[in-house]
Amino acid sequence: MSSMGWSFQAYLMNLILILILIPVIIIPLVLGCYNSIIAFGDSLTDTGNLYNSYPNKSLNFFHPPYGQTYFHHPTGRCSDGRLVIDFIAEFLGLPLVPPYLESQDSNQSVQNFEAGVNFAVVGATALDAAFLEEMGDSTAFTNNSLSIQLEWFKQMLPSLCNTSSDCNKLLSTSLILMGEIGGNDYNNALLAGKSIEKVQAYVPLVIETIASTINELIELGAATLLVPGNFPIGCLPAYLTKYESSDKNQYDPSTGCLNWLNKFSGYHNDQLQIELSRIRRLHPQVTIIYADYYNAMLQLYQSPDQFGFTGETSKACCGGGGPYNFNSSVQCGNAGATVCENPSQFINWDGMHCTEAAYRLMTKALLQGNYTFPRLASLCVSQM
Ligand SMILES: *[C@@H]1O[C@H](CO)[C@@H](O)[C@H](O)[C@H]1NC(C)=O
Ligand SMILES: *[C@@H]1O[C@H](CO)[C@@H](O)[C@H](O)[C@H]1NC(C)=O
Ligand SMILES: *[C@@H]1O[C@H](CO)[C@@H](O)[C@H](O)[C@H]1NC(C)=O
Ligand SMILES: *[C@@H]1O[C@H](CO)[C@@H](O)[C@H](O)[C@H]1NC(C)=O
Ligand SMILES: *[C@@H]1O[C@H](CO)[C@@H](O)[C@H](O)[C@H]1NC(C)=O
Ligand SMILES: *[C@@H]1O[C@H](CO)[C@@H](O)[C@H](O)[C@H]1NC(C)=O
Repeated sequence: MSSMGWSFQAYLMNLILILILIPVIIIPLVLGCYNSIIAFGDSLTDTGNLYNSYPNKSLNFFHPPYGQTYFHHPTGRCSDGRLVIDFIAEFLGLPLVPPYLESQDSNQSVQNFEAGVNFAVVGATALDAAFLEEMGDSTAFTNNSLSIQLEWFKQMLPSLCNTSSDCNKLLSTSLILMGEIGGNDYNNALLAGKSIEKVQAYVPLVIETIASTINELIELGAATLLVPGNFPIGCLPAYLTKYESSDKNQYDPSTGCLNWLNKFSGYHNDQLQIELSRIRRLHPQVTIIYADYYNAMLQLYQSPDQFGFTGETSKACCGGGGPYNFNSSVQCGNAGATVCENPSQFINWDGMHCTEAAYRLMTKALLQGNYTFPRLASLCVSQM
């Protein structure tokens, strides 16, 4: 009787000790890895830059049901809720990363950028808009390509730090999210019907642009960069609609994705990783992490049930109907589009972008699984 009472008491004490110690042990390992997140990219990462540069909010992305799941109103994020960058910020114990262009619209002080600033813009390309225009591929929504985003960063840097040692410290304790960027250079051309052979010629130029941006950031003091690859675009409803084929051999039977388009993403990702290895050799003191968005997303298509994706994985949750619920003339957020009852049962949100549920699982795979190289999580812990 008394021994049972004692062991229960001991059990209770242990439980209390564990409950007290867990936050004490784990939080310092999670927090304090990085003081700030500085991001560049496109609609996979934009937390409101394009939104703030469109006072009339005329684009479909800025209408409900965008944002319905988490923010309960549109924020300029191309999803029903949070993006990978939001989940990374949460994981690091940092506030959600504010869009750079917020400061132009309101009286936000630069203080707000001390824990992060986001330069990503929906529609942004790696290559300059004028060059792409010359090549016959116009950009959509924005001309704020990667070089302009880097320029914005350099212009705002003096508001964050003045002495070179201060700036170095700021950059060296920041996690730099470099992308995803480059996807739109290909999307604009491929979805307009340009041949894969012609689009392939952009790959070395896109990689070179990403590399030179990384090199400039390293010169400014960047110490950790997370560089995502491209999505498996052959799984996206916009592409499945545009390149629908009666030839079953074009599809991967285990995922329903178009092989030739995924192969193209794989080619970009291989070239990017080769370039990242080269930069690592030149700058051994800098940590350059490849984020494998391709496989982090593909695993969801390979085992949808395991992740709760009970909707049809080839369909967008929100769209204008058709076999993939994607119609380029009736897009999510436009009149006539419909939204699925439960977005968390769908991988794809609007034909091009993922649902919050998919982004959450992708981020988990990146931060806790083996979809970063070198592993991001282990770096955080080993820095303590
Ligand atoms: C809304 O603003 C954008 C960007 O300023 C502009 O290009 C577009 O024509 C405007 N649309 C309407 C309907 O006013
Ligand atoms: C911004 O600040 C100015 C002057 O301090 C003030 O008049 C204005 O109302 C403020 N605007 C907003 C959106 O808060
Ligand atoms: C981008 O630049 C081109 C000319 O270079 C211009 O015609 C177009 O309107 C610009 N687009 C945006 C969204 O600013
Ligand atoms: C840097 O110097 C400028 C001009 O003296 C000042 O306005 C700014 O607040 C300073 N920035 C920081 C982060 O100290
Ligand atoms: C897309 O929507 C438009 C407008 O409702 C319609 O005319 C067209 O047939 C649709 N396209 C497809 C492929 O369903
Ligand atoms: C990552 O982990 C999964 C599941 O544990 C395993 O199947 C896969 O081979 C691993 N990939 C790499 C690159 O280690």
